[in-house]
Amino acid sequence: MLNGKSNGASQVQPTAPVPAHAIRFSTPVVETPAVFIIGRWLWRLLAFFGALPVRFPLATASAAVLAASWWLLGWIGPALVCTVATIGGLAWRRFHPGSFRTWVALRALGLVRGVWVYRRHWQPVLVVSGLAESYLERQYLPRISAVTCTEWADRVRVKLVPGTAPSAFEERTAHLAHGFRAPACRVEVRGPLDIVLEFPRHDMLADPIDALPVPDSADGVDLAALPMGLREDGRTWRMRLHGTHVLVAGVTGSGKGSVIWSAIRAMLPAIAAGLVRVRAVDPKRMELSYGRSLFHRYADTAEACVELLEEAVADMQDRAARYAGRIRAHVPTLDDPFDVVVLDEVAFLTAYHPDRDIRRRAEAAMATLTSQGRSVGYAVLAALQDPRKEVMNLRNLFPDKVALRLDEASQVDMVLGPDARDRGADAHLIDAGVPGTAYVRLEGSTMPVRVRAAYVSDADIDAMTAADADGGE
Ligand SMILES: Nc1ncnc2c1ncn2[C@@H]1O[C@H](COP(=O)(O)OP(=O)(O)OP(=O)(O)O)[C@@H](O)[C@H]1O
Ligand SMILES: [Mg+2]
Repeated sequence: MLNGKSNGASQVQPTAPVPAHAIRFSTPVVETPAVFIIGRWLWRLLAFFGALPVRFPLATASAAVLAASWWLLGWIGPALVCTVATIGGLAWRRFHPGSFRTWVALRALGLVRGVWVYRRHWQPVLVVSGLAESYLERQYLPRISAVTCTEWADRVRVKLVPGTAPSAFEERTAHLAHGFRAPACRVEVRGPLDIVLEFPRHDMLADPIDALPVPDSADGVDLAALPMGLREDGRTWRMRLHGTHVLVAGVTGSGKGSVIWSAIRAMLPAIAAGLVRVRAVDPKRMELSYGRSLFHRYADTAEACVELLEEAVADMQDRAARYAGRIRAHVPTLDDPFDVVVLDEVAFLTAYHPDRDIRRRAEAAMATLTSQGRSVGYAVLAALQDPRKEVMNLRNLFPDKVALRLDEASQVDMVLGPDARDRGADAHLIDAGVPGTAYVRLEGSTMPVRVRAAYVSDADIDAMTAADADGGE
C-alpha cells in the first residue's frame, strides 16, 4: 500500500512497489544515471560532515578533543580525557542533577531513541499508515529533522513534503502512536511544513496530586494564572479567571469539584483580604456547602440561586455604569473586588428545573454576566455534566473550557471545538480511575494540553475556612 494518501483534488495513480531505500528523504524514484546518483551522495556526505559542528557541537567537540589528545600523547591521551570526563560527569550528576539531566541524560536519550525508535521504524510506519506521498510515480516521505526528549515525552520534529498539510498527521495519530509503541501521539504545528510529533513516554498525571500550597499573601495571588494542578509535561497548570469565564464539563465523578476548589484555594488570601468575592450557587447542596463560610453569598434552593444571580447582575451593571467612560480595565480593590460566581451543576437551573420561569431567569442572568462581566471584574466559573445544546446553550459565552472525562466524542467537540480531538484531546477516553484529569487549551496556544487538577480534600477545605476566619479577623 505504497500509494499513500492524496490530499489534493487530483487522484494519484497507484504505483508499482518501490524499493525501500528509494523513498527516504523525498528521493524521487526514477532511473537516474549512476554518475548523478554518486555525485548526489558525495554532496550529501560532504554536507553532512560540514553541518556536524553546528548540529552536534558537543559530540563534535568531544571527538575533536579525543583525537587531539591521541595525536599529542598517544593512547594515554584519550584514556586521560575519558577518566577526567567520567569523574567530572559523576560529580556534575551528584551536585547538579537537574542540569546534568537536561544537558547530558536527556540529550543522550534523545540521540538513542532518535536512532533506535524513530529513524529505524520511520519508513515502514509512515508508509503503512499512508503518510508516504506519491506523485507521478515518485514516492516522497516526510523527514525527521530532530528528536529531543523531555522528562515525559519524545518530540520528533518533522519536515513535511511540500503540498501536504499537518492534518494528514492529525488524522493518523492512533497509527503513529501504535507504530512507535507510545501511549499517544499529539501533533503540534510550528510553521509551514514544520510540525512536532509528541509521544509521551510515561504518564506524569497517573498519581493524584495533593492540594497545592496556598499563596502566602494576597500579593502572591495571580488571578490571571491560578495554580490548579499539573500539566502532562510536569509543569504547573495555571488557569486564568480574571478577564474570562470558565466552563468545566465532565460526567458525574469526573472531578469537577477539584477544579472548582483548586481555583478557590488559589485565591484564598485575596478572598480573606476582601479583594476577591465569591458567590456560590450550589443546587445539589453537596459541592460548595462544605466551605460556605468562604463565600460572600451562598444559595442552594432554586429561587435563592436565581436571586443570587440576579443580584450579581445588578451589581455588575451598577459597576459598569460607574466605570462607563472612566475606566477601561478592572483592577481588584476593596471597593471593587474581583467578583466570581461559582455555579455547580448549572444545568439544574438552565434545563432540569421544572419551573419555566426559574429556567428563563437563570439563563438570562447567566447570559448577562458572561457577556458583559469580563471587563468590569466579574467572572463565572460553572460546572456542568452534560454539555449538549438542549442542556446548556450558553456554552459559547465561556471563552475558556475544561473538558474532564466525557461520555462521547461529540461532547468533546462541543466543549473544546471540532479540531481538538484531531490534536489529541480525547476527553471521552479519559480513564474513570484518574478523576480530575482534563484537557484544556492554554493561553496563546491552540494545542489542547492534558492536565490534572489537584485534589482538595475535606480536611483541606476545613483548613481553608479556618485560615480565612483568621485572615478576615
Ligand atoms: N483531582 C482529583 N484527584 C484525585 N481524585 C479526585 C480528584 N477529583 C475528584 N477525585 C475523586 O473523585 C470523586 C468525585 O469527584 P467530584 O465530586 O469532584 O466529581 P464531580 O465531577 O463533581 O461529580 P458530580 O457531578 O457527581 O458532582 C471524589 O470524591 C474524589 O474521591
Ligand atoms: Mg460535583
